[in-house]
Amino acid sequence: MNEFEKKELRQDMELMKKYLSYYLREPEYGSTAGKILRDMKMSRGKRLRPRLLLMASRYGENYQTVRKRLCRLGALVELIHMASLVHDDIVDDAPLRRGLPTTQARYGKDMAVYAGDLILSRIVQSLFRDGFMKLGACFGDTVEAMCLGELGQMQCRGREDFTVSQYMRNIYGKTAALCRLACIAGAVESGCGEEVVRQLEELGVNFGYMFQIRDDLLDFVSNTVKEGKPTQADFREGIYTLPVIYALQDQKIRPGIIRLIHMAKEECFGSREEEELKALVIEGGGIRRASEDMESCAKRAMQAIENLPDHGVSKVFRELLVL
Ligand code: FPP
Ligand code: MG
Repeated sequence: MNEFEKKELRQDMELMKKYLSYYLREPEYGSTAGKILRDMKMSRGKRLRPRLLLMASRYGENYQTVRKRLCRLGALVELIHMASLVHDDIVDDAPLRRGLPTTQARYGKDMAVYAGDLILSRIVQSLFRDGFMKLGACFGDTVEAMCLGELGQMQCRGREDFTVSQYMRNIYGKTAALCRLACIAGAVESGCGEEVVRQLEELGVNFGYMFQIRDDLLDFVSNTVKEGKPTQADFREGIYTLPVIYALQDQKIRPGIIRLIHMAKEECFGSREEEELKALVIEGGGIRRASEDMESCAKRAMQAIENLPDHGVSKVFRELLVL
């Protein structure tokens, strides 16, 4: 990307943030709703999904003429992400997100449920008002996939027979579906042809998988504690991520992990057990095999970039995929 294109991307991100503020405007009545939305405007996200959308749009020949619409779409994709986190924090009873109290901690769970719904209603309004008819169905499919992913995760909770394919299905909803939407929306709106849309879809999905597997691996290989979350929170909650699933497949290691699963169910899972789990997961090849899967997803995403027409933005996409 040359300096001019980089500047344009920065400008678009700024406009996207303005639209985001507009979509989070205070309602005519309901002072608590107003406060919640004001808090949300202050949240410091990385805005990764709108960035994906804007980058994907660079492959389309109309992107210059639809820049404002692309910025709106970017804000709408970010709003889905925000609404889903408000609801996720309720389910997780999370006190903090990005260093700030969550909506549910500050205003209570009931208010937080409705605030998430309010954001979803703003998304639907804009999709119709701004005439995003073709993409509207895609937004709907994505929210459905996200709900199914979370329902799937709940259903699989605590199950020792949880499989890799069930895990992949769940993380499709949790992370990959929205990255896919971001890439498709940018591509469709800017007028990309069918094949380019397909490659960008492939890029978005695999980027999302890679991102989530990496997050799940970090629980085992990094010592940094996630804000407000105890370490190995997923395992304690009965959510088994890819490294654990793989380690469970090792018949020598399995009994040790099953014992820890039972201890977690009885809430006897302390820091000693945590260390034991990490050691078992490493010994059972969980880290190695999950890392291999993550690399396969990155490779698939890289291949999609290679299949796209040559463009300066491809380099920026490649940089996002560096593990
Ligand atoms: C975070 O998981 C969860 C998500 C990214 C997806 C949540 C999806 C829903 C609640 C369903 C869709 C709902 C709407 C309103 C669109 P995590 O708890 O593993 O990660 P965390 O550490 O960031 O909380
Ligand atoms: Mg959570």
